[in-house]
Amino acid sequence: MGAALTERQGREPVLSAETHAEKHYVRCDGSEVTLVFALTKGGAADLAYLGARLPDGENLAALVAAQRRALHESQPDAPPVPGLLPERKGGWSGTPAIELSHNGQRIETDFRVTDWALHAKDVTIDFADERWQIGARLTLEMQPSGVVDSSLTVFNYGKVEVTVDRLASIALPVPARFTEMTSFSGRWAGEMQESRRSIGPEGFARSSAIGKQGFGGGNWLLLHDPDTGETLDAHLEWSGDYETLIECDAQGAGDGRAMLQMGARYDRGEIVLKPGDAYDSPAASLALGSDRSTLAQTLQREVRENVAPMVAANGPRLVHCNSWEAVGFDLSQPDLFELARSAAALGIERFVLDDGWFAGRRDDTSSLGDWIVSSDVFPAGLTPLIDHFHANGMDFGLWVEPEMVSPDSDLYRAHPDWCIHIESAAQPTMRSQLVLDLSREDVWEYVFDRLEALLSTHPIAYLKWDHNRDLFPVAGRGMAQTEALYRLLGAIRSDFPQLEIESCSSGGGRIDYGVLSHTHRVWPSDNNDPIERLRIIRAWSQFLPLEVLGSHVGPSPNPITGRRTAMDFRAKVALFGHMGVEADPRAMSEDERRVLAAHIALYKEWRGVLHAGELWRLEHPDPGISGLMVTHEAKALALIAQTRFAAQFDVAPVRLAGLDPQARYRVTLPEPWPAKASGYLAEPERWREGMALSGRALMTQGLALPLTYPETAWLIALERLDP
Ligand code: GLA
Repeated sequence: MGAALTERQGREPVLSAETHAEKHYVRCDGSEVTLVFALTKGGAADLAYLGARLPDGENLAALVAAQRRALHESQPDAPPVPGLLPERKGGWSGTPAIELSHNGQRIETDFRVTDWALHAKDVTIDFADERWQIGARLTLEMQPSGVVDSSLTVFNYGKVEVTVDRLASIALPVPARFTEMTSFSGRWAGEMQESRRSIGPEGFARSSAIGKQGFGGGNWLLLHDPDTGETLDAHLEWSGDYETLIECDAQGAGDGRAMLQMGARYDRGEIVLKPGDAYDSPAASLALGSDRSTLAQTLQREVRENVAPMVAANGPRLVHCNSWEAVGFDLSQPDLFELARSAAALGIERFVLDDGWFAGRRDDTSSLGDWIVSSDVFPAGLTPLIDHFHANGMDFGLWVEPEMVSPDSDLYRAHPDWCIHIESAAQPTMRSQLVLDLSREDVWEYVFDRLEALLSTHPIAYLKWDHNRDLFPVAGRGMAQTEALYRLLGAIRSDFPQLEIESCSSGGGRIDYGVLSHTHRVWPSDNNDPIERLRIIRAWSQFLPLEVLGSHVGPSPNPITGRRTAMDFRAKVALFGHMGVEADPRAMSEDERRVLAAHIALYKEWRGVLHAGELWRLEHPDPGISGLMVTHEAKALALIAQTRFAAQFDVAPVRLAGLDPQARYRVTLPEPWPAKASGYLAEPERWREGMALSGRALMTQGLALPLTYPETAWLIALERLDP
């Protein structure tokens, strides 16, 4: 809709290398970003520039010289250049990107640049430690989306075995203008809480040790230039444990830049390289935006084009009805028949049967691993139920938690050693369950066979793939477990290419581009309370497009927060995502059903825009008001929501974003409207007919909407009038 998109289209990465006075420079131009590396054969590789795209012909030697300073009073005579592969040598005291040991003794590495190569999209920089005969290859790949992926490979070309204790996927000297950062933290039902602070001398460190990133959110990071709003994102594309570090050059041994590192966290002994072996780190990604909206757009393009292109290929994102917050474990076939009829009448397109359908699982204490349809609940199996869903115009999805086993299960009784455990130590449970050791071939085969059996004997369109406990003791299995999970998802998808899979981990406990490259959506949180969900969706949509973010209308009062909210508010919030309903439609009043059905119809009308367009984060001076807007071709839809009681009667108008300032747009407020607030619309008829306003007026002055009361949300629809 705006000008930005057309300019970006068709910008394939361009990589070039040049040499001046025996100094070597590699320049990588992405769609919006330029990276320049300064390379010294036999020495270091450093980042010389990371920022908005430089003009062609920029003098790279001058670019480097303009950053260089002479020695100060308290520096080694030859100041260390930690660069793209920091090591503890020459006086640099930070954490090395590669930590190796031999026979339990730490290896003091000395990696030096040996070579580099430029390909169509990536540059590889080779290093070697000649004493230990270990090679390292850094690969930086520029995606057409504007994202840069970084990974590191270690090779053992020596004669002795070495252990890799630490391996960062990226080590980045942070350009000095990024002086602030936003990190994320969370808890169950409260994912992705943002906190912004200065990047201070104490640095920043986060890691996980539970076999997944969990709710901690430390695998996502934003760095800001507070003067301009420019924002750099870093993310580890890996579903196991992570380690994120920012270390400041507090003593000034180097050049004063902070060092950012992100990588998988390994247990000691997990990666052993015999002579001739190599190991690749997972990828970490970087992206740059002139502000948080343009950054979100780059990342959404990356997910759509590169991480999860299969999402769009599967067609429109169907409206779900999920049984969990509707009936929980209280499943019965007649009840589900009724529920399905009631859901279908609202316009729902897929029914997802959540936990409780298998073996003896009538609560969360048993039966994980026994993936056989419960004959108590479904005497004739699932087929009559699925037929009934189909007859009501819905396809069928099923909940599974394949990586787990309940001690109270036939599987555990037959194979008590199949869980991750430490020999003759206790097997502590969480949610009454243990974790299967998928790195064992027999265990992997069992799980694969059970899933294959279910999928080949039932028309299952969708799996909700859950993971409801931490891996403890991780017993050195974290990395192998994650790799086995990817292999399992890959094998299932190759046998059932039409199957959609959701990654859920008690909500958003395992969300990253690694798992998303094998799945079609994530479950951002178990918390469907719309006030919480607004914050959670706003945080996740910084990194992920709306079509992969499950977004459900829950019951009122909400089972997690106890808060009561109006259906209009719940439904408007759920519309900005992959919409579903996770409440019992039979328990809703006629009025609630009418409002919900109208929003489901709106979702169907607008999903083509919401799931293909560019996302803009709308800002508002009232702390209770937040907004998201999506522009796509000639259309746009915005969601503006108030969560508090405003300090003023007349809050500031809502200013839109992403429009062509010169174009005119027809602006309407799609109905139904929030009941109380709509009484404060001065001229409701004009909002119904639509007002023609320029992009300039909409972005500069905005729209004065009634947003005084908590739980008020409006949708704003725009259609471009001029060609
Ligand atoms: C997890 C999920 C929920 C639900 C339950 C079922 O908590 O996050 O959505 O599927 O498991 O046990």
